[in-house]
Amino acid sequence: MSKPTSPQPGAKADDAASIARAGSRAQTQAVRLARKTQSLDILYEIATSLNQPGSLEQLFDGFLDTFIELIDARAASVRLATADGQTRLVASRGLVPEVVESDRVMPAARCPCGLAATAGGLRIQSGTAPCAALIGRPMLERDCTEFVVVPVQYQDRILGVYNLFLDRPLEAMGEDMRDLLISVGRHLGLAIEKARLEGEARRLAIIEERNIIGNELHDSLAQSLIGMRLQLKILSESLARKDFSAAQYEANALRRAMTRANADLRDLLTNYRLKIDESGLVQTVANLVERFGRETGIAVFFQNECQAFALTPAQEIQVYYIIQEALANVRKHSSARNVRIMLNNEGDLYTVLIEDDGLGMAESADGMPGEHAGLAIMRERTERLPGQFVIESEPGEGTRIVLIFNAPPLAAAATAARG
Ligand SMILES: Nc1ncnc2c1ncn2[C@@H]1O[C@H](COP(=O)(O)OP(=O)(O)OP(=O)(O)O)[C@@H](O)[C@H]1O
Ligand SMILES: [Mg+2]
Repeated sequence: MSKPTSPQPGAKADDAASIARAGSRAQTQAVRLARKTQSLDILYEIATSLNQPGSLEQLFDGFLDTFIELIDARAASVRLATADGQTRLVASRGLVPEVVESDRVMPAARCPCGLAATAGGLRIQSGTAPCAALIGRPMLERDCTEFVVVPVQYQDRILGVYNLFLDRPLEAMGEDMRDLLISVGRHLGLAIEKARLEGEARRLAIIEERNIIGNELHDSLAQSLIGMRLQLKILSESLARKDFSAAQYEANALRRAMTRANADLRDLLTNYRLKIDESGLVQTVANLVERFGRETGIAVFFQNECQAFALTPAQEIQVYYIIQEALANVRKHSSARNVRIMLNNEGDLYTVLIEDDGLGMAESADGMPGEHAGLAIMRERTERLPGQFVIESEPGEGTRIVLIFNAPPLAAAATAARG
């Protein structure tokens, strides 16, 4: 049996040193791990704060508050790049109030913020003395140790920068802090872009809605007022002639027109959309045609060749108001003697035709904004069907409007199943 060897004194010292080394390695790893966890926490908190719904202002405020708290910065700000090569202060915490009020816009070429906003890259400057020299006043009550500038980026586009005013060097917060800050800049960029797209979508929805309400007003109240003005003219001519029975007839027509205009106005006030009579499209067009003939003296022929009707209420409204505007145009512009309106369908393909034998259309009609809107609105209504809109017109040869569209397949299928 071999005798156990007794440890040498030198070997003991080596072991102790290697244990100490292992201990310090473990400690460093623990610190690294703690920092990594802290970094992930920071990223998580920032991502959460950026995902809150709200305006861009609320987004920046939430971002700055969260960030200042997490990394213990003394002040922080966000500057966005402007189209003319400057950076604009859009949110801040802890800056001297005069800086916030008067030094919002800076030329990009003259400071680290501008450089980072154009060329990218994280930049660190000791203190803010160069910035103070540039703007002519200190940025903080008491200067900081490091001024850090981080690009705010969406994909490869730099949208601006955010700044941190730190009381200790960034390096002291761990080696992965730089990567973390860059990553936060990308999160902020993504949130800004998302807010911008949402804002744009809201703006377009508002424009679309205003446009629709404008169209509805044109086709209801504006048309009614024009009609009533004509009726009023005829009424006063009848009175001037002392033809009281004709005057009475026009006064009654005027009262009916006012009732219709009032009903349209009520529809617009409650639904922001016009409705057509519950009797349905064909009957409502028949009433319109009857009124048109009576009021204008133009011979008007309504030919409904549709087998079965399978339009949605929204489609019926578009078709009705296209026909109404076409007739209003015949009345105002054509000097026609005859008008024909035809509805026809082959399966779920519908055709609407409105033709007159009047003067035909002039080349173009210029006017003030809001004038001569009828044809454009007819086209917009056609797009909403959706369908095709064609005008055929030659000077002296009359005007023909053709509208072609499909009934929705589901409605057509339901009708077929019923019939
Ligand atoms: N049936 C038609 N016959 C002759 N010209 C027409 C006819 N329909 C339209 N026009 C011409 O086309 C122009 C544009 O028509 P549109 O309906 O867009 O505007 P408007 O009728 O002048 O004004 P609004 O419809 O806004 O009251 C008219 O000004 C007119 O010159
Ligand atoms: Mg018109």
